[in-house]
This record gives sequence, structure tokens and C-alpha cells, in this order.
Amino acid sequence: MTEHTQVKTVQMNYDKDRPTVENPLLVEDISLRDGHQSLFATRGRTEDMIPVAERMDEIGFWAVEVWGGATFDTMHRFLGEDPWQRLRTLKRYFKKTPFSMLLRGQNLVGYRNYADDVAKLFVKKTVDNGLEIFRTFDALNDYRNFETVVPVIKECGAHFQGCICYTLTEPRLGGEVYNLDYYIKKAKDLEAMGADSICVKDMAGLMAPYDAFALVKALKANVKPLIHLHSHFTSGMSAMTHLKAVEAGVDIIDTCLTPYAYRTSHAALEPLVMTLLGTSRDTGFDIKALADINEILEKEVMPKYKHLLDDTKVSLIDINVLLHQTPGGMLSNLVNQLREMDSLDKIDQVYKELPRVRKELGQVPLVTPTSQIVGTQTVNNVLFDTEEERYKMVSGQVKDLCYGLYGKTSVPIDPEVQKKALKGYARGEEPITCRPAQVLEPELEKARAEIGDLAVGDEDLLLYALFPVTGKKFLKQKYGKEQVPDAIKPLTLEDVKKQDALIKKAKAGELVEKPSFEKGENTRIFKVFVEGDCFEVGVEEQGGSQVITHVGPAAGKPADAARASSAKTLQAPAAPVAPADAEPGSKKTQAPAPDAAQGTPVKAPMPGMVIKFEKTVGDTVDEGETVVVIEAMKMENALPAPVSGTIASIHFDTGDSVAKDDVLAVIA
Ligand code: CO
Repeated sequence: MTEHTQVKTVQMNYDKDRPTVENPLLVEDISLRDGHQSLFATRGRTEDMIPVAERMDEIGFWAVEVWGGATFDTMHRFLGEDPWQRLRTLKRYFKKTPFSMLLRGQNLVGYRNYADDVAKLFVKKTVDNGLEIFRTFDALNDYRNFETVVPVIKECGAHFQGCICYTLTEPRLGGEVYNLDYYIKKAKDLEAMGADSICVKDMAGLMAPYDAFALVKALKANVKPLIHLHSHFTSGMSAMTHLKAVEAGVDIIDTCLTPYAYRTSHAALEPLVMTLLGTSRDTGFDIKALADINEILEKEVMPKYKHLLDDTKVSLIDINVLLHQTPGGMLSNLVNQLREMDSLDKIDQVYKELPRVRKELGQVPLVTPTSQIVGTQTVNNVLFDTEEERYKMVSGQVKDLCYGLYGKTSVPIDPEVQKKALKGYARGEEPITCRPAQVLEPELEKARAEIGDLAVGDEDLLLYALFPVTGKKFLKQKYGKEQVPDAIKPLTLEDVKKQDALIKKAKAGELVEKPSFEKGENTRIFKVFVEGDCFEVGVEEQGGSQVITHVGPAAGKPADAARASSAKTLQAPAAPVAPADAEPGSKKTQAPAPDAAQGTPVKAPMPGMVIKFEKTVGDTVDEGETVVVIEAMKMENALPAPVSGTIASIHFDTGDSVAKDDVLAVIA
């Protein structure tokens, strides 16, 4: 009862005598980064942030998050935008409010640990371009992965916000690993590193309101830096969690403006402002000014993005998060993976195996990329393990994790699993215990030599060093050496109106369907990905040339691909189109199946892409030796020789897509 009196309410005439409070709740708006990353696949464009930027600058936010996370990757890859330019452009409109970004520790804004020289230059250039607050996290909460970036952040005079990834092994806070003591210890570690503020990052929306209360109380009692809460709405608890955190004395909370709020994003700001109005934690924000911003977003901006919303579900929340403590995105990945393998009936086995695999791999927090690593390995185990042997197919990333390349896990990795995973591992069979980036060679000068004159400044160079393939492509577009493809040009409000009219017509039954083609028995079905949408294309050999027999959205599409399927189907051209992947490299996918009598086939156990063949025709192989590596669901899987012998034939190239059971090589 005493705790609750911390937030005092008063009766008053709000328009006239709204008092200025001593300790207002500070708010960071994250609509322009996490908001559209969570709801619209990070596709928000700078031009759509400008109409509200100056008004947002007037609200009084502690900071606005505008950069980092997936924005850097998505902007140059899918939007044709220079990520550095966004910072400089928005800075012209946000004159008072500091900029914050999400920095993935030594992973920066990518998906692997980069070398120290890249990390240092990245932080420096980020500050040069206008960024003030570095929210820094590591998927394993291994703060050795902060050791390179933090001194640079400090030297540049920027704000170091240290993150603790919030994860659970039980339905609620507690248990042997992720209990109150764990979080207090992590907060003390961050304080000792010089954190200016500490953020608890609840990326899966697992934090229950009363756990937030206990946690914030404990952190406030044990460390001095400001305590900041980032809790996703995914499970539906976060608005309640916010309130209990406020009652416990949290300093800063992340919210989104209403059009960017809820679902897998964050609870909205406006109800929180109203909830605290007239209390001792009143934000002081002008609710009418917020309503004006919402109106602009609703009318001028959101129509261009609504097709990206996952509207396959009526529910706003994901109840599975409450049941299994696994992030929503990870669960949908698992389901898609099983569906691709025609094994959806094994989902209950996956739910059972998942906590076991996670424990064996060091009880890691489940956040990008560890959620993917644990999830995919679980599916591999369920599909390929036998009574006698577990971990029959170990992904390359699990091997890296076992080697220590991501850092130290919360509990030790199961020694047997570790030994098995590291058998024949290229860097060595003995795991490292040092800071991971210590074993990485410098990368900057190599990148500089490779990209040459195409990189004009350090910003270009970093873009290439972080994303060599897509970064180079972007730089060619930026400097007019390659045309910007139509697919990445922005949608206008006019386009949206036309699409809406078509959909309306279709719903009213006024559109005539295209005649469907007969599907012959030789039809091969390809999945073609266009801008994140998945289409099924049927191709049939008819006297030499390929003929498209039907085009339609793929069944069983992932949520990301499901969006806009109605609009896209209506837009699908009636005339035959060439399949998007009909390049010379993929023709071998249609090679006749080799004669099994020639020897023992090495088959693809799952659909995927060939990364590389470790052997060539004529090489001898021992049973169990790796013949080929394929990538499935972003994880690399080494396929062993089923027998000893000589490679008689190889049937695909690097980069080729393969179907389940395709014969990749034959051993005679
Ligand atoms: Co987030």
C-alpha cells in the first residue's frame, strides 16, 4: 500500500492548473525505429517521417529512437535510401530532442560480430552524423561484446545506455538462471562499465506487471543510473507492465504513437499520458498536440504502409508467448519451417524439445540471432535425430556458439553437445574463452581495398564493410552506376487509392477472375519472392520453352509474405511472366535425377540453398565427412557422406535452390 502512494493524484482543472511535477515520467518515442520495424517490416521511409518530425520535436520526449536495429540493413537493401542520410535529414527537423539508436554490441547493425576496427569507426561516424544515445545490447548479455564500442561512445561524448535482455525460463520471473539476482548483477556490471542509463529490453513481451514492479524496485535500490523500460506488447501485458513500472519508480519508458503501437510493437503513448495526467508522474505532454500528429500519420502516412500489416489474424496479441515464453517471431518461423518439410504434425514435439535444446546450448536469451539458432536446431533435432543419436544435424551457427564466437552463455553448454558440434570445426575443436572479437582479424583495410573508389567517404566504406553484397549494390545505385529498380521506389497515396479501389471491386464481386490454366503432370512449382511477397509460379516444359501455367500467392506463406496478397494477386499480370529465378545458375535445379544405380546419393534433407561443395568430382570421402553445406532458414547445415567412396558426380552449383530429397552428389 505504501508503494502505491508514490504516484499521487490530485483533483484539478486540467486546462488551467496542470502542475509541473518534480519527477515526471520520461518517455522515449520509438515509433520511427522499433514501431515500424515491429509492424511494417522496417519499411518506414524518411520522407514519411518528415511530416510529423517538427511536431514530435515539440512534445518533450526524453529521446526519439530513429536509427539502428534493422533500419540500416532495410534502408539500403529495400528502400534505396542511404542510412546515414536519414540521420542528417531528420536532424534538420528535430532541433531539441536527442536521437537514440539500437546498437547490437559488436554486431553493430548486422548479424555477426565485426572486427574491432570496423566497430570503432562505426560508432565515431554515427556520432558525426548526429546520434546522441547508444542503446547497446548483446544477445547473450555478455558485456565483453561492449568492450570495444563503449570507450568510443564515451570518448565521443555520447550517452551509453546499457541493455539487459530480459528473458525467462519459467512463466514468471524466477528460477535458477534468470531471477532477480541475475538482473541486479547485470545492472551492476553495466554501472561499472560507465552506463549513463540502464535499459531492460523485454523484446518478446514476457515481463508481467508485478515482475516489472519487483524488478524496477530492485534496480532502483541497487544502481544509480536512470532505469529505462522497453517492453513489447506482443503478449498483451505491456500497458499494465508500464503502469506497475511507473509505480515502482521507473525513470523512462518506451512507447509508440498510436498508429505505430500494439501487436508486436509497443503500447501507445497517448493512454499513458492520460493515465498519469494530474499525478506526481505526469509526463506534461500536450494530448491535443499528440492527437494532431496522429491525424497526420493516419491520413498522409499510414495508408502507404497498411498493406504491410499482418492481417492474417484477428487477435492483436500472441497467446503462445504466455504459454511457451518464446518470442512471437520465433514461433512463426518454427511453424513455417515445419510446414516446408511437411511436418507440421511434429509441432508439439518441437515445443517439448525447445526448452531442452535451449538448456543444452547454455540457456541463452531468445533474441535475434539466438532465437533463430535455437529454433532451427530444435527443428533439426525433431526431424533428423534417432533413438540412438541426438544432434545428428548441427547447424554452422550452433557450432559457432559452441566455439564461443557469440560470447559466454548464461550457463555452460552441455559438454557432450559441445564436443559433438566442434568435431572437425574449422577454427579448432577447443572452444575459446576470450572476448569473441579478439579472434577476428581487422577488416577495414581489406574492405577499403575491395570497394576502391566506389566508396566516397567513411560512411560508404562502412556500408560496404557491414554489408558487402547489398552495400556494394546500393553504392552503385547511389552513384548512378546502376539503375534503381522500380520495385524499391516508394508507393504514393495515388497508388494506394487505385489499389483500394481494385480491392473494393473485388470484394463486391465485380472483378472477373483470370481463367485458370490446366496444371500438367510435368509442372514444376517455384516459389518466387518479390519484395518480401511470395508467389507460386508453375513452370512446364512444352517443346523447349518454359510456359507459366499459373501465378498466385503461395499457400502457407510466412506472415511477412502474407501481407498485401490480395492487392498483389489482382495486380498480377495476365500475360505470362518469366520466373524471377530463371537465371542460368538455377537451371540445374531441373537437371534430370541421377541414376541411383551409379552409387549412393547425398540428398538434401530439407529445402534450402547450396552454400558450397566441400568436395569435387573425383575426391575421396570418408563416411561422415562433409560433402556439401546448404543453408535453410538462414542456418548453415553441413551434409555428411553417408558412405565412404569417391565423388562420382555433383548436381548443383553454389547459390542454387534445392528441394527436399534433391540429389546433390553421388558417391560411388
Ligand atoms: Co524492441
